[in-house]
Amino acid sequence: MERFSLTDYIKKIPKAELHLHIEGTFEPELMFKIADRNKIKLNYNSVDDLKAAYNFNNLQEFLDIYYTGAQVLISEEDFYDLTWAYFLKAKEDNIIHTEIMFDPQTHTHRGIPFETVIEGISKAQKDAETELGISSKLIMSFLRHLDQKSAFEIYDYFVHHKDKIHAVGLDSSEVGNPPSLFTDVFKKAKNDGLKITAHAGEEGPPEYVWEALDILTVHRIDHGNRSLEDNNLIKRIAEQQIALTVCPLSNVKLKVVDDLKKHPLKKMLEYGIKATVNSDDPAYFGGYLNDNFIQTAEAINLTKDDVLKLVRNSFEASFVSDERRAEMMNKLSDFSI
Ligand code: ADE
Ligand code: ZN
Repeated sequence: MERFSLTDYIKKIPKAELHLHIEGTFEPELMFKIADRNKIKLNYNSVDDLKAAYNFNNLQEFLDIYYTGAQVLISEEDFYDLTWAYFLKAKEDNIIHTEIMFDPQTHTHRGIPFETVIEGISKAQKDAETELGISSKLIMSFLRHLDQKSAFEIYDYFVHHKDKIHAVGLDSSEVGNPPSLFTDVFKKAKNDGLKITAHAGEEGPPEYVWEALDILTVHRIDHGNRSLEDNNLIKRIAEQQIALTVCPLSNVKLKVVDDLKKHPLKKMLEYGIKATVNSDDPAYFGGYLNDNFIQTAEAINLTKDDVLKLVRNSFEASFVSDERRAEMMNKLSDFSI
């Protein structure tokens, strides 16, 4: 009998990704190509030079490089190419559904029209659905280092693109920028029928996770690692089955955890938390979704049942219709024995 390989199982099982920044999928090779096309000179001489800069001591050091990289994106074609390249990687990883975050303010603040950004991304989404069979939803993320007024300005674009935007999120520099600063804009989004998610408890304290839950009334928490410092919070998240979109390789690269071997993912599952595995900014953190699963499984001894649970969690926590969810769940039948 053939020996069971967890790595093969991970590669083959159909997956969903719920925490992915499209600007964080910008591979150095594509960055140089697009910079060339737009006659923009990068601050690095080569792909290797650029990659050598990907050493971060914290979230802010990463964000500084990530926002600089995004500056070469100018035309609709650039946003299309960026998104399409991610979908090709997603196909390789057997991702059947993905929920993509984009940071409109990163682009509108340097004069790129919102329409350029959203048209490029959404055309790639349509092509991925028809050519690759990957469904997707778009999450418009507000930058929390900017103020709520700026978030409202961006939110106004939503009205013209209701068919393309499914949820709103909150990202960027966490410490010092708690969720409560964005109460009104999230209230409006919820009233308008959008789903809500927010980065919380990545570097910020458990109080920020409480605020995301109680004040923003989120459907999911992005990261949420520091929730584990508060037993009442663990209880709340587990009881209400609020999904955490956990990103193991990101956590190591940004020093949210010291070592993948110490990653709390298994503990989260043991607490009954609806944890999911995601890649966050794979071009910067050294791996796409399968790499996150494979390396984490090896580091903390995940079992086949753990992997299946994590995949099921992501299907349950996704913002798809009940019909699509049932279709996705059905694809797991061969992987459940
Ligand atoms: N934007 C892109 N990646 C992020 C992360 N890991 N945390 C906060 N904001 C981000
Ligand atoms: Zn993120």
